[in-house]
Amino acid sequence: MNMYDLIQRKKTGGTLTKDEIYWMVNGFTKGEIPDYQMSAMMMAIYFKGMSREETLHLTMSMAQSGEMLDLSAIPGIKADKHSTGGVGDKTSLALLPLVSVCGLNIAKMSGRGLGHTGGTIDKLESFPGFRTDIPIETFEKNASEIGIALMGQTAELAPADKKLYALRDVTATVDQMSLIASSIMSKKLAAGADLIVLDVKTGSGAFMKSEEDSRALAEEMVKIGKDAGRKCSAVISDMDQPLGNAVGNILEVKEAIATLKGEGPEDFTKLCLTLGAQMLLKGGVTVSIDEAEMRVYAAMHDGSALKRLAELVEGQGGDPSYVFEPEKFEEAPLKVEVKAPASGYIQRILCDEVGLCSLMLGGGRRTKEDVIDLRVGLILEKKVGDEVKAGDVIAVLHAADEKSAEEAKKRYLAAVTIGEEKPEERKLIHGIIE
Ligand code: URA
Repeated sequence: MNMYDLIQRKKTGGTLTKDEIYWMVNGFTKGEIPDYQMSAMMMAIYFKGMSREETLHLTMSMAQSGEMLDLSAIPGIKADKHSTGGVGDKTSLALLPLVSVCGLNIAKMSGRGLGHTGGTIDKLESFPGFRTDIPIETFEKNASEIGIALMGQTAELAPADKKLYALRDVTATVDQMSLIASSIMSKKLAAGADLIVLDVKTGSGAFMKSEEDSRALAEEMVKIGKDAGRKCSAVISDMDQPLGNAVGNILEVKEAIATLKGEGPEDFTKLCLTLGAQMLLKGGVTVSIDEAEMRVYAAMHDGSALKRLAELVEGQGGDPSYVFEPEKFEEAPLKVEVKAPASGYIQRILCDEVGLCSLMLGGGRRTKEDVIDLRVGLILEKKVGDEVKAGDVIAVLHAADEKSAEEAKKRYLAAVTIGEEKPEERKLIHGIIE
């Protein structure tokens, strides 16, 4: 086998065999296939695409390029959830305790935030003492005994994807459906869960802006999951404005805690109920979606999921009292109101820009080495469709200093459009792919 022939074949629309794909991915991971040949292959795939079989082989070869987690020592159905990312997306913090008390075991590897989107691991580290670099034995023990454990993604998980993603990032080959689907699913499959529920975002703040593209990505990933022998489904959810009201680590943790007391914002609560019901149904906990949703709703109102979140925090060295007394979390020193410059309806809130406001306030990382300020962020007091009068508070910035607050305030005002017409309501759930 040689890389030149494989590139030539893919460039002219041919198909690669399983052996060829494994050979290529292994060779690239070991450094035997140079970046320039792999870049050419990525561009050929970008233009000619991959068949369902090729995509599966690419996914499996990347998943198997490192450690494949074996969760068989943990009893019951091991469930995982993945979001394609967005602003204010604190879903895992509320959803995972909810489904855990309903009977699924959660043993999940999560990532940190980079750029304008946040990461579950950073948010969990808002609890003083909470460790995400726990030994695999603790991870398995907590998932078995408590029913939930979350750890940071290790370097051994799908190393081929790590290398390939870095190459795609600088060769303009990220936005190809098979490549995105195989990249995400290789990590999910290597992480070992029996059941994977995907939250594929759509809208201006999502990776996939159009509903059509989001649906195609969701279908591609669900196919891979099923072909790999896992239970898998996807919810396509809206990311045309930030999810919920809170953006920023501690602020989002507090919003997740409120949601586990039945006091969360409407959109975020609905997303947790929809994803949770999908997970219970696919995991065989219930036989109907209505019953599944009722179970999740009950866990959201009877205090059981809140208690499970406290057990998760305690099980990983954190202080669980913060779950019951969230006012103990440290607050940012400055709170700055952003006021509506005109009367009318909020027509648009640019998601990415809100994420960048949080980044400017110190709540995100520009590089992997940046240290984040867990206290800062924004509370959106008004969302798309709300009527406002000039001077009404539309958001409150939680800032470390005046300079960052002023810059973020200007940026936030530029991210919000206020107009006379009430905008058409967008759906929160755009579809479910089973
Ligand atoms: N997220 C990933 O992990 N991989 C991609 O290719 C795109 C988004």
